[in-house]
Amino acid sequence: MGGRDATMVLLDENGIRCDGRKVDEPRRIMIKAGGLKNADGSAYIEFGDNKILVGVFGPRDVHPKHMSNTDTGILRVRYHMEPFSVGERKNPAPSRREIEISKVIKEALEPAVMLDKFPRTAVDVFIEVLQADGGTRCAALTAASVALADAGIPMRDLVAAIAAGKVADTVILDVNNEEDQAGQADMPIGYMPNLEKITLLQLDGVLTPEEYKKCVEVGVEGCKLVYDLQKKALHEKYFGNGGE
Ligand code: CDP
Repeated sequence: MGGRDATMVLLDENGIRCDGRKVDEPRRIMIKAGGLKNADGSAYIEFGDNKILVGVFGPRDVHPKHMSNTDTGILRVRYHMEPFSVGERKNPAPSRREIEISKVIKEALEPAVMLDKFPRTAVDVFIEVLQADGGTRCAALTAASVALADAGIPMRDLVAAIAAGKVADTVILDVNNEEDQAGQADMPIGYMPNLEKITLLQLDGVLTPEEYKKCVEVGVEGCKLVYDLQKKALHEKYFGNGGE
């Protein structure tokens, strides 16, 4: 946040954003369930210019053993960015940002998965960001839910995610990289539409309480759109159609 590029027009006089979208319009989203034959479950997502692959393994034995829980299975998540995924080459060493995002995604998925039937085991979720363009945590969380379902992990609901935000004093849906850098607020939201529960909510920037409420509303509606695409991807793999 903080207007690093003060000259960029984030919203023009016709209410059109820097990438041609309307304020409530998400980027193009394409989700594919499956694809990795050596994983128990997998998914690939394109969310605007983000490209992310997720592989799920398990439930399987936990190493090191002391990390296991005798009462339940555990979820482990690794979010990893390829060095070539961003314009300026990313240092291949795990960054604090990757550690934070791994934790946030794990905690956002935990309410959805039912691992109590698999004590002493772990389910591992590996997230590979191939190309990043703002909103990778939401795109990754969305794809990870589909990959977990594809692995046959019992789930209460899918977690769908998208960010709301604010540019030019206006609430917008699905914050892109430029809007994240030069805009006023970015609020990633993860939501389980069937259970009507938010499992991820972060805020970078400044909002009034009214704008905050509007962002949550706009974000939750956006998650419902993402959820339809998640279900469509699973239908396509398992029934050969998009659920029609
Ligand atoms: O990706 P997300 O919005 O969830 O997380 P962020 O930390 O707010 O990062 C926003 C964007 O900054 C990323 O999606 C990348 O496009 C970019 N970025 C980058 O260019 N170089 C990095 N080392 C990390 C992030």
